[in-house]
Amino acid sequence: MPTSGIADFPQGFVWGAATASYQIEGAVREDGRGPSIWDVFSHTPGKVADGHTGDVACDHYHRYREDVAIMEDLGLHAYRFSVSWPRVLPGGTFNAAGLDFYDRLVDELLARRISPIATLYHWDLPAELDWRNPDTAAKFADYTEIVHHRLGDRVATWTTLNEPWVSAFVGYGSGRHAPGVSDPAAAFTAAHHLLRAHALGTQVLRAGGAGEVSVTLNLLPTVGDPEVTTLIDGLANRLFLDPVLRGTYPDDVRAHIAKFADLDMDDLPFEPIDVLGVNYYTIARLAADPASPGHEEYPGSEGIAWLPPHGVPTEMGWEVIPSGLEQLLLRLSRDYPGTPLMITENGAAYDDVVKDGRVADTDRIAFLDGHFRAAHNAIQQGADLRGYLVWSLLDNFEWARGYHKRFGLVRVDYESLERLPKDSAHWYREVIARNGLD
Ligand code: FCB
Repeated sequence: MPTSGIADFPQGFVWGAATASYQIEGAVREDGRGPSIWDVFSHTPGKVADGHTGDVACDHYHRYREDVAIMEDLGLHAYRFSVSWPRVLPGGTFNAAGLDFYDRLVDELLARRISPIATLYHWDLPAELDWRNPDTAAKFADYTEIVHHRLGDRVATWTTLNEPWVSAFVGYGSGRHAPGVSDPAAAFTAAHHLLRAHALGTQVLRAGGAGEVSVTLNLLPTVGDPEVTTLIDGLANRLFLDPVLRGTYPDDVRAHIAKFADLDMDDLPFEPIDVLGVNYYTIARLAADPASPGHEEYPGSEGIAWLPPHGVPTEMGWEVIPSGLEQLLLRLSRDYPGTPLMITENGAAYDDVVKDGRVADTDRIAFLDGHFRAAHNAIQQGADLRGYLVWSLLDNFEWARGYHKRFGLVRVDYESLERLPKDSAHWYREVIARNGLD
């Protein structure tokens, strides 16, 4: 991992941090919010580690002013948050009080000169909806219109969906996430309707005059022989990249989907975006292995084995490999030219220790340092990378892993709800002030 040498980022490069509604807000029954699939799932015994739920989370709903003050102190240029659909349209009925929260949040951010980046869907689907149902895409467009109508005068950058691959293949393929369905046909059906939702939502944002429209994809570089990487790259990456950036499914992916689900894959409007959000955490090392049952999140992957990570992984078990980010950014620039890129998530979970009122998270600093340098290398080779949002501002509810995995630049004590900026936060403040690394 490169750890030295000057890395100056381009002028105007956007440094920020990201969170998501269900992971930080809490206040799940306040001001008319309705249940989401994650409320139902987390309250179902055995689904989330130790029965953790987002009921309180970081209590950001009440403490957002304190959190925005921390962002200002770090010098963040931008903050990526998500809007909770069931706060705005519980049970399908408009709830002004729910939308008011985001109005207050956006005003607070702007007062502190932080640009809001709003994600419309980060996995907390209203509990009465289902991505297997084609109507959900139209409902997403209606919801998008309502939120944009209220916030569009102050929020310039809009992201339709966060990681539709995870919503579809973890939510409906393996069932490790809400709504907890394990069925390959359901996973492909959900993926198709998520892509339709993105397109319809983009149409609405365009019609409303939105400044910048994006979608955030979790992209997974694959390493191994082409006979195994092509399928996994198709399912993890091209299944989303091609429809979003070229308007159609790739032929090999289309043929694969047809083996599992009967879908009208041409029913997919093409709506170009202004910037692609890239979430990068790790790579997949793959090998042919006739004995492998495959992976439930990649239907039809029998005969492909996932190899263990090299080196010391993060607490999530993910390999630390900054060069994967550099290669990913270059690949996107080559295969999908013309779309500016933004890293909308990158970061690491480590077992932080509080000692003498301080978290000396040197592992997280090394992780970020390596990945920032990798991004810088890609920029130097021509990648049009506009910004970098660290996951996450705060320790938070890490989905099926509950509160055990801490990704924050800022520690949250889940008893007292006190915030404590970690050493990585102080380090990041210097990176931002200097617009690079020494
Ligand atoms: C991504 C999610 C985000 C967070 C990180 C660790 O897949 O978008 O909410 O859980 O992983």
